[in-house]
Amino acid sequence: MSQNEQVLAAETAETPRLSIAEQFARRKQGQAPSQLNSQRVPIYGDKATATIETKPLTWRLAHHDAILDLETYQSLRGFEGLKTALSKAPKEVGDMIKAANVRGRGGAGFNAGLKWTFMTPPDGGPRYLICNADEMEPGTFKDRLLMERLPFQLIEGMLITAHAIGATDGYIFIRGEYIVAAERLMAAIDECIANNLMGDNILGSDFSFNLHVHTGAGRYICGEETALINCLEGRRANPRTKPPFPQVSGAWGRPTVVNNVETLSNMPAILINGVEWYQSLPNEKGNTTTPGTKIFGCSGLVNDPGLWELPFGYTAREIIEDFAGGMKQGKRLKAWLPGGASTDFLTTEHLDVPMDFDTIQKAGSRMGTGLIMVVDESQDMVPLLKNLEIFFQRESCGFCTPCRDGLPWGVKLLTAIDDGQGKVGDVEKLEGLTRDLWLGKTFCAHAPGAMEPLMSALKYFRHEFDSKIVVPAVEVDAETSEWAETEIKKVMSSMVSSNPAASSNSGADTGSNNNSDTKAGAEAGNNTPTSKPSDVK
Ligand SMILES: Cc1cc2nc3c(=O)[nH]c(=O)nc-3n(C[C@H](O)[C@H](O)[C@H](O)COP(=O)(O)O)c2cc1C
Ligand code: SF4
Repeated sequence: MSQNEQVLAAETAETPRLSIAEQFARRKQGQAPSQLNSQRVPIYGDKATATIETKPLTWRLAHHDAILDLETYQSLRGFEGLKTALSKAPKEVGDMIKAANVRGRGGAGFNAGLKWTFMTPPDGGPRYLICNADEMEPGTFKDRLLMERLPFQLIEGMLITAHAIGATDGYIFIRGEYIVAAERLMAAIDECIANNLMGDNILGSDFSFNLHVHTGAGRYICGEETALINCLEGRRANPRTKPPFPQVSGAWGRPTVVNNVETLSNMPAILINGVEWYQSLPNEKGNTTTPGTKIFGCSGLVNDPGLWELPFGYTAREIIEDFAGGMKQGKRLKAWLPGGASTDFLTTEHLDVPMDFDTIQKAGSRMGTGLIMVVDESQDMVPLLKNLEIFFQRESCGFCTPCRDGLPWGVKLLTAIDDGQGKVGDVEKLEGLTRDLWLGKTFCAHAPGAMEPLMSALKYFRHEFDSKIVVPAVEVDAETSEWAETEIKKVMSSMVSSNPAASSNSGADTGSNNNSDTKAGAEAGNNTPTSKPSDVK
């Protein structure tokens, strides 16, 4: 058993679930707070065939469960990409990444190389590269895999990026709960420092760079890049006004680039294999122009939730059925979120849409983090949305009024509807809220992100909200009641005389297969699912 495997075996033997406080306590006592690692994440169906050409992000995991020492990483082409980068001028590396069109994996999908070009030119002062490792998007756990199991690959990606943008110092801003990942990154950085891969004159070149791990305290808004910078500086994590963009005035007012963990982890393989290779990766599917691979994933009531590195262009149906093993027995898919809780729901009608930034957007949602969350037909959308909106409400930084006051109002309405206390007009109020908290109405994208699942749930599953609204009984006086009864009798008798067959199945049960009782009929009509039954079972 290799050293890595022994470490993992020891860790996975520890099964009890520990609270974050308990993990910190263990750490203080010098024990490994490694309970998180006992949750094994399946990432391969085809370990044997994984190569740097086919799985540039995770191919090394076909050989080891995790690569935690420099020697093993170097034996698997580790730091070859950095050596290639250092043999080129910074601009040449930047141009290469821009041409490769590595689209940011933090959610927005912006070309990373193009983003780097917005940095103001070097003036002899400090310049920063920040790795966004906050990963608090519900249902998202891809960056955790890359940091816990491949810490040297992320560090190499950051060194290549730092060389390209002329960064002097770097920070990995990591979610506080990712204790194992933070420890492994710190250990890997120490090993790099000891081997001239970090610090002054890296590998004998004139490139110098220092990297630090900064743990956050677990706030979703710290993932927004300008709130992250405020937090890093020791301020309250409120987003900043843009412009100026961080590339001009970021950390401590200096030029700064913020990139996601997965974005940065792509760099080593591109430097080794080149731009054309990176662009050819989606040819496997042939239905998208988005270059490269992505760590896709799936959670919810599927048989095998997990993560899989795949070229862009795989469809949600393929990911759910072929990789996640399909829906659990007896469950039928109703809806899915393409990339975390802040994306719009799609339905069974969209299962064959290729997963890439542009195509998912055309279908009415966003790629987000690319980790699918499935909702099955037995799940009621109202409590589900209430749960999501409670999260977004709690994570609002409170800086701007529409978000600070609007999100709690949404939760109040959803709670009332879910408790059977919703009034006529409440669903319309929720619809209004999705417009009032939309892009341009709030200071940052947090509130619009919170509105995406709500807006799409109302679009596709409005009947589930409407059916919970209590319509108050209308009180009528005796005279009106008598008149109504006479009128109804008249209508019924005219129906029977014009359709004698109906008399054999008379009264309120007429056509009872469709339920002609007005209210129940309307409900039955309203309850007819708008989406086709899923093929995904
Ligand atoms: C509320 C909010 C939370 C975010 N959380 C994250 C996050 O956890 N990780 C991340 O990489 N990007 C997150 N982002 C996006 C970042 O602001 C930024 O666009 C991203 O880090 C840029 O990296 P990329 O260009 O490599 O994608 C978040 C944005 C918002 C509005
Ligand atoms: S939208 Fe929400 S999270 Fe963003 S600045 Fe306003 S209050 Fe803060």
